[in-house]
Amino acid sequence: MTQLPDLQGRHIVLGLTGGIACYKAADLARELGKAGATVQVVMTEGAERFITAVTMQALSNRPVYTSQWDARPDNAMAHINLTREADAVLVAPASADFIAKLAQGRADDLLSLLCVARPTERCALLVAPAMNREMWAHPATRRNVVQIVADGAVVLGPAAGDQACGEVGDGRMLEAAQLCDALIAHFQPKRLAGRRVLVTAGPTYEAIDPVRGLTNLSSGKMGFAIARAAAEAGATVTLVAGPVALATPMGVARIDVKSAREMHAAVLPLAPTHDVFVATAAVADWRPVDAAGQKIKKVAGQAAPSLVLVENPDILAAVAALPGHPYCVGFAAESHDVEQHARAKLERKKVPLIVGNLGPATFGRDDNALLLVDALGTRALPHADKLTLARQLVGEIAQRLPSAP
Ligand code: C5P
Repeated sequence: MTQLPDLQGRHIVLGLTGGIACYKAADLARELGKAGATVQVVMTEGAERFITAVTMQALSNRPVYTSQWDARPDNAMAHINLTREADAVLVAPASADFIAKLAQGRADDLLSLLCVARPTERCALLVAPAMNREMWAHPATRRNVVQIVADGAVVLGPAAGDQACGEVGDGRMLEAAQLCDALIAHFQPKRLAGRRVLVTAGPTYEAIDPVRGLTNLSSGKMGFAIARAAAEAGATVTLVAGPVALATPMGVARIDVKSAREMHAAVLPLAPTHDVFVATAAVADWRPVDAAGQKIKKVAGQAAPSLVLVENPDILAAVAALPGHPYCVGFAAESHDVEQHARAKLERKKVPLIVGNLGPATFGRDDNALLLVDALGTRALPHADKLTLARQLVGEIAQRLPSAP
């Protein structure tokens, strides 16, 4: 199983403008390279005050361009050549001044020049702002951001949090890994554009008392990968997650729950406003009938307590039974006879698609193999990492959706 890195074959112009977040651009150049991209760094004069071209050359493995008057290209047209072979221009960090330049279409240094000179239909411009919160909030910056978005730029972030100046607020540049993920997402086909997707993921936790409970070994990785893949495909994604410590995929709205009943209560009101529901969660089938309010004490000589269990609501079946329900996809984690069990579940839950997998073998792992079972037949998605499978599954779901009104 050799999967190509996500940015294999992509050529990215990474533009740096003046700002302390230039230190993150060093890491970004490495992340992009690790993801398979070739990276051509272009720096403004301001950027060179914060980080050296030597550092960026070493990390990107290419000489850096800093001047529109660079004599290296035979035709002396660095501003044209640089974007002719590029798949995207990513400006990170983008200062308030640079965004103002972009908004006006000014072209008085190499980076702003190549942004204007790029072939817009096949070389996207992605911009990661980084500035003090007052600068970000200033009406002129707000106006400029609206303008560059109207002109087709994609604005990534900024994040909120501690700033280099000591203030706290909006304006931090996204982290290198987030920007790399955003670029990977940018290149994914937008098969779910305009769709709303609801995903459940992870285990549930059913309390026995305040310190003990019943749960299972689901890691949530498959569901989180599906949420990420759906967001990459252009969907608006809501992820209802049981107790797991995974990072929320970029652009995904997450609701954390613990028990099956909490998951049920979170999902049911949301379901009618979504086009697709993917039930990946390993919902506990049963819960203790009454959770003790206080820790059950072990008393010497006293018999062990017995647990009386009651069945949890079936979230997937409940959603599938709603009037105007979304397109429902269930999972079947089986230890054997995956296809047979998946097909039985298709009937029992009254859903159009069940995804079978070998439960115990996949829990907690980064890879899996899936079997898609629907009324028309069975299709195997062979062994691969969970994100690759999630992207394939999203493609399969997109094909099965009724066309948008
Ligand atoms: O009934 P079973 O647990 O075998 O079905 C698995 C599928 O149903 C999964 O998609 C799971 O997320 C969903 N499910 C649910 N609510 C339950 C039990 C399972 O949504 N209480």
